[in-house]
Amino acid sequence: MKRSLSGIKPTGRPHLGNYLGMIKPAIELQDQYEGFYFVANYHALNGNPKADQLREETYDVTASFLAFGLDPKKSTFFRQSDVSEVTELCWILSNVVSLGDLSRAHAYKAAKDKGVEGRLNLGIFSYPVLMAADILLYDSDIVPVGKDQIQHLEMARAIAKRFNHIYGDTLKEPTELIKEDVAVVPGTDGQKMSKSYGNGIDPLLPSKQLKKQVMSIVSDSKELEDIKDPDTCHIVALYKFFASAEELATIKENYRKGGYGYGHAKLALLERLESYFSDARNEYNRIRPDLGYLEQTLNEGAAKAKESARVVLERTRKACGIQ
Ligand code: ADP
Ligand code: TRP
Repeated sequence: MKRSLSGIKPTGRPHLGNYLGMIKPAIELQDQYEGFYFVANYHALNGNPKADQLREETYDVTASFLAFGLDPKKSTFFRQSDVSEVTELCWILSNVVSLGDLSRAHAYKAAKDKGVEGRLNLGIFSYPVLMAADILLYDSDIVPVGKDQIQHLEMARAIAKRFNHIYGDTLKEPTELIKEDVAVVPGTDGQKMSKSYGNGIDPLLPSKQLKKQVMSIVSDSKELEDIKDPDTCHIVALYKFFASAEELATIKENYRKGGYGYGHAKLALLERLESYFSDARNEYNRIRPDLGYLEQTLNEGAAKAKESARVVLERTRKACGIQ
């Protein structure tokens, strides 16, 4: 069976962009692929989070994945740091990556351009190497991610190629799986939805807070009676992910007719989100306080992940002569 792998940093509860761009596609693959999905807590360390916060957010992400439908019997779900083999592979790989390539990585360049060079740490600089290690350690075939991760996948492939060129065929070259329609989900301000832009919609929030986020979606200043353009509206852009073809056609027609306000559209979106995520929200609230269950799931996942990781790590150690 081919393998699918992806990770997400524990830096807050997943938003709709994370859900549509990565979590949902990953979960959809769980019947056809051997899935390896993990909470990338080593990666989150580069922001120097408080220890308690990192632990709690690791549980938030774990409970979210399970609530959204990940079946830990079908896919292996684990905490990155529980398979510390990845740090050894990262070290080995760091010797076949050029500083030039790393300094062209988007995340590093963006941090540098923001003028925060003094606060840049080695973890940020070598982020793509650890990510390559995550992927290559499990002989992954495909990696479901949003569009912003393409460069990281290209680097992982280049690193595998380079290692194989030097030491012979050892590491499998992965391919990204990016669904075009959800490649970049817009946030409440129309920019890419991102935890760092404060423009997220968290579908697991209680109703009142979810409503507040939906109501904050930015629109233009057209009045209720005005004719509106559904194709440039952020509300419709989100609505289409949760509506049937018929519902989408109706809302578009309402926009073009006039007499239908952005407030109406927001309430329609809210109603769709409430119903789509109702079960997930209940499940999240049920399992999130049960740390025993979350730990058990993570530990069982780590044990399975370790078995695979050891095989690839041993092969890699032998190939380069440290074993
Ligand atoms: P953020 O940008 O909010 O910090 P992450 O970097 O943790 O999100 O992303 C986790 C996963 O979710 C990645 O696969 C990423 O590509 C995907 N993703 C994040 N934001 C979006 C978005 N707005 N649209 C589509 N996919 C997204
Ligand atoms: N860099 C990814 C993100 O910010 C998270 C991640 C870490 C990842 N390791 C990975 C994604 C391996 C896919 C495969 O979202």
